Amino acid sequence: MDKAKRKAIIAGNWKMNKTPKEAKELLSAMAPLVADADCEVIACVPYVDLATAIEATAGTNIKIGAENCHWAESGAFTGEISTGMLKEIGVEYVVLGHSERRQYFGETDETVNKRTKAALAAGLKPIVCVGELLWERECNITEEVIARQIKLDLWDVTEDELKNVVIAYEPVWAIGTGKTATADQAEEVCAFIRAQLAKLYNQDAADAVTIQYGGSMNDGNADELLSKTNVDGGLIGGASLVAEKFAAIVKAASK
Ligand code: PGA
Repeated sequence: MDKAKRKAIIAGNWKMNKTPKEAKELLSAMAPLVADADCEVIACVPYVDLATAIEATAGTNIKIGAENCHWAESGAFTGEISTGMLKEIGVEYVVLGHSERRQYFGETDETVNKRTKAALAAGLKPIVCVGELLWERECNITEEVIARQIKLDLWDVTEDELKNVVIAYEPVWAIGTGKTATADQAEEVCAFIRAQLAKLYNQDAADAVTIQYGGSMNDGNADELLSKTNVDGGLIGGASLVAEKFAAIVKAASK
């Protein structure tokens, strides 16, 4: 499939930044700058910002995502948030399996898979993050790591459900470090991810999936990264907290 036929998606991942008041300010500054985007624009924000963010972006082209969700519908899971809670307030996307969750909060491929299945069942669109550690890249096992994550994280996800899945390739060594993967490195792994999807599903299904790159993507390097055949968008951390920088990346994806 021609890259131009896939949906380009630029998503901000705010992480643990911005209070509701600050979220409103940032989104109000961002909205006019991305109003004519020719790609999907998403802001994934902290739980307590979601309601404010949905209200602040009503009538704009910015969609709102959460940064995680639990797999159970309800129950004794102190501190967790269910897919139904997110859905009811108008959340559309949810970041799952981010490396910070894997690294600091015990997220495993098994729990990423459970969350992914639950999100899809609730009608949320998961942005499933995969990526290798620096040590794994140095040991030349990037492909093994990615293949395993893709297989496990999407275990039991049907071909029909896959249409609502976005994959984000985020090499862990490039996140928040200022070290971007080169456009060729990003393309190599994004193409590998697509090949894995083709193996697990089929070529048509794989060709339709939006695969983002994430890891120090910014207004200076977005053009080159997004020019690659298999890089269909970006998951943006630091640069998504500055309206002009984020808008510049959206512009690069709209070409
Ligand atoms: P970064 O974060 O752009 O700050 O490197 C990306 C991410 O973690 O999603």
